[in-house]
Amino acid sequence: MAVKAARRSATANGGAVGVAVVGCGVIGSAVCAALLLEGGTRGLLRRRSGVTVMLRHVVERDQVKAAEAGIPRKVMTADFGRVLTDPATQVVVELIGGLEPARTFVLQALRAGKHVVTANKYLLAVHGREIFAAAKRAGRCVQFEASCGGAIPIIGALTESLLANEITRVVGIVNGTCNYILTQMTRNGESYADALAGAQAAGFAERDPTFDVNGTDSAHKLAILSSLAFGVDVPLEEIEVSGIDRLCDVDLRFAKEFGYVCKLLAIGEKVDARGEGGGAGAGEGALSLCVHPTFVKNDQLLANVHGSFNAISVAGHAAGETVYFGRGAGGKPTSSAVISDILEIGLGTAPLLFARLPLLTKKAPGAFVARREAASRNYLRVTALDVPGVMGRVANILSGHGISLAGINQHESQAGAAVPIVIMTHGVKEGDVAEAMKEIDALEGITARTVRIRVLG
Ligand code: HSE
Repeated sequence: MAVKAARRSATANGGAVGVAVVGCGVIGSAVCAALLLEGGTRGLLRRRSGVTVMLRHVVERDQVKAAEAGIPRKVMTADFGRVLTDPATQVVVELIGGLEPARTFVLQALRAGKHVVTANKYLLAVHGREIFAAAKRAGRCVQFEASCGGAIPIIGALTESLLANEITRVVGIVNGTCNYILTQMTRNGESYADALAGAQAAGFAERDPTFDVNGTDSAHKLAILSSLAFGVDVPLEEIEVSGIDRLCDVDLRFAKEFGYVCKLLAIGEKVDARGEGGGAGAGEGALSLCVHPTFVKNDQLLANVHGSFNAISVAGHAAGETVYFGRGAGGKPTSSAVISDILEIGLGTAPLLFARLPLLTKKAPGAFVARREAASRNYLRVTALDVPGVMGRVANILSGHGISLAGINQHESQAGAAVPIVIMTHGVKEGDVAEAMKEIDALEGITARTVRIRVLG
């Protein structure tokens, strides 16, 4: 009975919206702090939107943590069931992260007639179809602006502002932790471990930062952004992923020498029959999806995105390139996106859009191109003993695979020691580079596996 009452009241919010925040970590506590500020942000929210937001419950198993975050006792609970049966709570804000219990709570909330706001990219990338279908069945909406790009309104851009465009490419720096680490290493000479510790202390990293540094978090975000941009459901296994956790300092130094910086990029693009992006026209082309460390020329916009900032470039057939930039991680910036989602529910615009837009619904097997068919430029670092003929044999293998060289650089060797040979290639199919690397690494005189980093452009 109580659940039925909650379902009825969720449709009639009359400018006020009752909210339950589930999870009181970095983002949860920032959202609660903003909502609790009497006359401050809450006043601002009312002034800006006309919506009054009432924080009715904060669900947190760890009550000490909730108390430390300044959550008043009267809204604190460890029992999610209280939220489900409260008819005055219309919106459940899921900020636990991870798959479970987040998935169960979200589905229960929708079934109980609550709208859902979530920052959980992992959950949406894996269970997005199920959750969106459940929301449609329940006549409720799922808002997820905070799932990608922190404070950047990229979900709004893709689902509203760019609707008139056939999108051909989405390229972004979408993980603040990795961007912070790479910035600290390249600009300030910090070690990887120290930079990661800094990202954790600042609240950018996930509780377990493995998904940040190995590229998985960026892949989750790319799956969401590509689904919205290209109108197909993107299974995670279609995204080729490598992170920054296996990068070597020496490659960051060489990047500098060649006039590049290394960024972890998430790239989704339509590619033409030659496997090349950018050239595919509106409506044409299979999708190529990848996350990997990438060398970006110093003067390009993405090269100049530093620290925890994110930037996402979207190419549309009518708009051309538009770029979205801002703080991609951290409690306060992410709370901006979460609270805007709550307000859009209070305003009634979000449920309307959600009901009408075809989001994450179209399965499109065969829409994706195998990565070995996609083309890219490359930086290769071959490690070879400085003996006559090695360079020639390497060059022969590359030309045998139709790989043309844009530049080559060999550093002077110490007597008898192996030397790095740095090679920049023109655009070439991934599969051809992989084959060539295998042959190079089997050569006599090659003392370590060849390192390959894609080059943007
Ligand atoms: N850990 C994520 C990042 C948080 O560093 O970008 C924002 O999704």
